[in-house]
Amino acid sequence: MSERTARHIAPAKGKLGVLCVGLGAVATTFIAGVENVRRGRAQAFGSLSQMGTIRLGKRTEGRSPLIKDFVSLANLDDMVFGAWDPVPDDAYQSALVCGVLDKHEHIEPIGDFMKSNSPMPAVYDQAYVKRLKGTNVKQGKTKRELAEALRKDIREFKTNNGCDRVVVMWCASTEVFITPGPAHQSLEALEKAMDENDPSIAPSMLYAYAAVMEGVPYANGAPNLSCDMPAIVGLAKEKGVAIGGKDFKTGQTLVKTVLAPMFKARMLGVAGWYSTNILGNRDGEILDDPESFKTKEESKLGVLEYILQPKLYPALYEKMYHKVRINYYPPRGDNKEGWDNIDIFGWLGYPMQIKVDFLCRDSILAAPLVLDLALFFDLAQRAGMHGVQEWLSFYFKSPQTAPGLYPEHDLFIQQTKLKNTLRYLVGEEPITHLGVEYYEYGEG
Ligand SMILES: NC(=O)c1ccc[n+]([C@@H]2O[C@H](COP(=O)([O-])OP(=O)(O)OC[C@H]3O[C@@H](n4cnc5c(N)ncnc54)[C@H](O)[C@@H]3O)[C@@H](O)[C@H]2O)c1
Repeated sequence: MSERTARHIAPAKGKLGVLCVGLGAVATTFIAGVENVRRGRAQAFGSLSQMGTIRLGKRTEGRSPLIKDFVSLANLDDMVFGAWDPVPDDAYQSALVCGVLDKHEHIEPIGDFMKSNSPMPAVYDQAYVKRLKGTNVKQGKTKRELAEALRKDIREFKTNNGCDRVVVMWCASTEVFITPGPAHQSLEALEKAMDENDPSIAPSMLYAYAAVMEGVPYANGAPNLSCDMPAIVGLAKEKGVAIGGKDFKTGQTLVKTVLAPMFKARMLGVAGWYSTNILGNRDGEILDDPESFKTKEESKLGVLEYILQPKLYPALYEKMYHKVRINYYPPRGDNKEGWDNIDIFGWLGYPMQIKVDFLCRDSILAAPLVLDLALFFDLAQRAGMHGVQEWLSFYFKSPQTAPGLYPEHDLFIQQTKLKNTLRYLVGEEPITHLGVEYYEYGEG
């Protein structure tokens, strides 16, 4: 057993409220999934918090508990759900429209539960999501007033549901691209801009502001700026709140952040990487708008640059051509097909190709991430870890970091970081994989 001291973690007692911004494909698949698991009708495949183990100590010790038995996480039975959405459909109706889950297998048997979850009116403005019309929308004279209305929703949800704690998860549409500007640099500037209805303040920023002001952790599953700005980061530190994002790492980028480290590890060059997708759900339709796609494109393009480090390895990666496309193609619904063509080169420059055709299900990959993030953000909050949660980079395409740090994109570095953080929280030794102690030369 380690001699390190464990961090104080407040117990996960009582109910954990999970408030989803957006009650579309990802959110309904997450909520319905948790309920099916709770009723013993399905298993939480894809969820590290529910199915993963963590090795402790030396390889000879044979200690590998389940993560959920090792750290204090909220129990699935203690989770209650709420949401905001400009579309008034309840979770049952929305899940049917999104068409991710089988109606008879996973929706009808929990129909009453799904019908009892109706979205609260959203803070929504079509200027930020061009391809979506909303009717279930809050009215307010200023953006500050709208943010205050969200704060009231959070407080009322907490009281009405008898929650001990709440987390807010952005599972809503990708907003148009916004470059960080003066209004995002400090709390004072942000609040002034909210009062003045400055167009650089998008709805997602108001949700982040409201959550943090209420002392509630906030995780951003889309590539919008939202909480990724000095004003909210500073506020989160001041209020002692865990925040993080951006953009759930699910299909193509998940694969990319596994393959690219392999090329770099073996010093194989990459001449080009062409990624394209066909996707027919509402997310695909929204991303068909060039302004929303630009936000997504930035998030998807960054990963190779950081993993392959062309400045350190110019001969291998400096000339790489990287292209990402998303094409809206309604017949496929949520079942995305992602193709990658990768032109690589090896010994003496001889070219080779790798083709990936990933027939995935977008929301099936995203739902367990929402669950893990809700549980781990709640853990971070109870452990007094405030501000940006870089240790949860594992879940994001475009991880938020402390200023001046470049993000880690390699999935297995991210996994090590996550598991070592859990070990650190509980007072176990981090695992370095050094392993000299198993060999004679280890005693040195
Ligand atoms: N599924 C994945 O694999 C994946 C991966 C990474 C990121 N994402 C992101 O997650 C988000 C959700 O994806 P989805 O497939 O569920 O999309 P979706 O279109 O099915 O659902 C999004 C919901 O958000 C609502 N919404 C839009 N603006 C809102 C606002 N201001 N307030 C409250 N609700 C709002 C929409 O009405 C819609 O119901 C998207 O931004 C998507 O890009 C998804």
